[in-house]
Parts: sequence; C-alpha cells; structure tokens
Amino acid sequence: MNKSAILLITFLCGIILISVLTAVLVYFPVSKSSATDGPPENGTLKYSREMMQKEYPGLGTDYVIFEGDNGEKIYAYLKGDGPMQGYDLFNNLNVFTTLVASASTDLSYIQDVFSVLEEIVSFTLYTREHPEGIKVESLEDVADGFNATRKTKFITHGWMSSGSSETCMNIKEGFLNRSDVNVFIMDWSLVADVIVYPVPAAATRPISVYLAEFVNYLIEYVGVDPIDVHFVGHSLGAHISGFAGRQIRAGKIGRITGLDPALPLFDSNPEERINHNDSHFVDIIHTCAGFLGIEDAIGHADFYPNGGTAPQPGCSYFDLTESCSHGKSWKLFAKSITIPDPLLACKDKKDKKQCEDGVPMGEPTPSHARGTYYLKTD
Ligand SMILES: *[C@@H]1O[C@H](CO)[C@@H](O)[C@H](O)[C@H]1NC(C)=O
Ligand SMILES: *[C@@H]1O[C@H](CO)[C@@H](O)[C@H](O)[C@H]1NC(C)=O
Ligand SMILES: *[C@@H]1O[C@H](CO)[C@@H](O)[C@H](O)[C@H]1NC(C)=O
Ligand SMILES: *[C@@H]1O[C@H](CO)[C@@H](O)[C@H](O)[C@H]1NC(C)=O
Repeated sequence: MNKSAILLITFLCGIILISVLTAVLVYFPVSKSSATDGPPENGTLKYSREMMQKEYPGLGTDYVIFEGDNGEKIYAYLKGDGPMQGYDLFNNLNVFTTLVASASTDLSYIQDVFSVLEEIVSFTLYTREHPEGIKVESLEDVADGFNATRKTKFITHGWMSSGSSETCMNIKEGFLNRSDVNVFIMDWSLVADVIVYPVPAAATRPISVYLAEFVNYLIEYVGVDPIDVHFVGHSLGAHISGFAGRQIRAGKIGRITGLDPALPLFDSNPEERINHNDSHFVDIIHTCAGFLGIEDAIGHADFYPNGGTAPQPGCSYFDLTESCSHGKSWKLFAKSITIPDPLLACKDKKDKKQCEDGVPMGEPTPSHARGTYYLKTD
C-alpha cells in the first residue's frame, strides 16, 4: 500500500468514527436525569435527599425548581434573601392588616376589604352558562351569572401559579362537566409569583381575609348557604382556604379540600395551618409529604397516594421531582371529578393496591370518611 492509500483509509475511518459517535450522542444524550442519577421513569426508586443533594446542593432545602409554561426551569427560593422582587406588594398588605384590626360585621367593612386588595387578588366566576368566565369587578355585580341555589366551589392556587394555570382550569372544567355549580377561581398570582417563598407564605393570612369576606358577602347578602360552599386549595392555597374557613361568620362551610398543603414555614404549629377545625369536612391529599407538602394527617380524612411522598409516578426528572410530586395532588383531584371509576383508597393499609371496599379519593370522598387512606395510582 502506498502512503496516499493509507491516508485515505485513515480519513474514511475517521469519518465513520465521528458519524457513529454523533449517532450515539443523538440517541443517548448525556443528561442529568439519566438512569444512574435519578429515579427511574416510573418513580420506583426511593427518594433520597442525600442522593439528590450530592448533585444539586441546596435543592429542596434552599431552593426548588418549577417547570414554566414553556417547559423552562424556574428557580424559586424557600428561604434566604434572594431577589425580593414584588416586595412592594406588602405596602398594600400592610394597609390591609390595619383594616383587619378594625374588623366589623358592617357591609362597609367587607367593601373596604374588597377594595384594598382588588389590585392584587381577583375572582372569576365560571358556570355552565358562562364557561368563558365573568371577572368579578365589584361586590354588587357578583349577582350576574351567579345562582345562590347551586353549590359553590372556590379554587385557590399555590406558590408559582395563577388563576389561569392548568391546576385551576382543569379542576374548574371537571366541576362544570360533572355538576351544575358556581365555580370561582381566586387569582393571587401577583403575590404567589414572588420567587422568594417567605413573601407569598406570609401573604396567606391577609389573602385569606379577602376570600373569607367575599364568601361572607355571598352568605350574608346573596343568600348562599355555608354548607353548600367547598374550598379547594393547592399548596399555599390550601392554607389560605383553611384560614378563610375559620373566618366565616355564619358558621362553618361544608368542605375544604387541601391539595398537598405547603410545609415550609407551616411545620410547627398545627393551629397556624389548614386543619380539621376549618370546615365541617376537611380532606387532604398528600403527594410530596415531608418536603414541599405536610406529612401529618391534619384533616378528617387524609389520603396518601403512592405513599404520599416524592417521587410520585410520572415525576421522572431528578431536579423537578419535588415540584412535580407536589403538583400530583391537583392532577389526581382533577381526575377524580370526572372519571367513572373512583380512585379507591384503603384505610390504614399502606401496601394493598386498590381495595374493593375502599373510600373514593378526591371530589367523591364522602364527608363521613375519617382517618388515613392509602392507594396506588398511575
Ligand atoms: C419500574 O421501572 C423499573 C426500571 O425500568 C422496572 O424494573 C420496574 O419493573 C418498573 N416497575 C413498575 C411498577 O412499573
Ligand atoms: C338556579 O339554579 C337552579 C338549580 O340548578 C335552577 O333550578 C334555577 O332555574 C336557576 N335560576 C336561575 C335564575 O338561573
Ligand atoms: C363532560 O365531558 C364529556 C367528555 O368530554 C362530554 O361528553 C360531556 O358532554 C361533558 N358534559 C358537560 C355537561 O359538559
Ligand atoms: C380544634 O378545635 C379544638 C376545639 O376548639 C381545639 O381544642 C383544637 O386545638 C383545635 N385544633 C387545631 C389543630 O386547631
């Protein structure tokens, strides 16, 4: 062989090698969520904070990652002094605290509460006649489209979410599909979107007053029966719902459903978070227990799908495991509203799959259910 033949062969071998390598890299990309690092796709690997924090120091304790609407990653801080954007919102909230100190049963008090926070919080009413939604601009025009003889649902989102999120929309659509009800979505995203968690966490109290006074208005001036009111709240929205429940003057409302109520800053005092005293029936779905969500049984009935902890099925990405598992609670609740076969849970039995004589989890849970329930889901 002459020199040029050897050169040609070397050159061709090089091309082939590069092509093969490229193909391998395209098909098997080097990624942080590869099988050796993260839980398998079906989430069967036991979740370990140590394992996770080896790769991502501070994840889950100092910060968490949410997935944005376009799949982008949003870093949000559980503590510390990250960028305090949105902090000026507290000016309004402070005015509000002064107002609450002078609480009364007068209509003018409810009107003042409504006007102070209307820049920050809003309600949109959805009914079968008005599936597009009617934004409540003032207390007086709530009567448009609202029917006090029907049951009324309130959906409240959590941290890093909004009233137009999938969370709220899917639950609302499920409710309207299943029954002829009034559905209000409360949007407090101006505060909830602040990426430093202590800000929206501290705002849950004033925002709960706003929700409570709106419901007090419906009860006292529009003729709603408190028993017909059901609050559904996810994450920090669960605490807002609980706090609002205890401020209803005419007596307890029928039901509050807490979807993975937020744990950080709500981990010490059982009275300073949603609990079973807040309505006649309080049901809780735990899906990120011990991390972003409360682990303790705090309602009348507490459901722990897939053990109640992260990673939940379908939450495969290592660095998104916590926010994904936290979100599983609302997905399961939304599903429970419309599926023909209820998601049956077994009392006190952790290991059984689904049980025949189980109690349905989610919307169809009967109000006499008591205790802790377990089930496996997709
Ligand atoms: C989950 O995935 C692992 C690895 O891919 C597999 O071995 C296991 O059988 C799967 N388990 C279930 C319940 O699907
Ligand atoms: C209010 O709702 C009830 C029950 O769905 C229905 O019978 C009634 O016609 C409704 N009233 C109005 C004004 O739409
Ligand atoms: C509920 O959803 C089902 C399936 O999408 C649809 O066929 C049905 O018409 C809906 N019912 C109402 C009342 O919206
Ligand atoms: C619930 O109410 C009872 C009776 O008022 C009270 O003793 C208990 O501490 C309350 N529990 C919580 C968690 O707030």
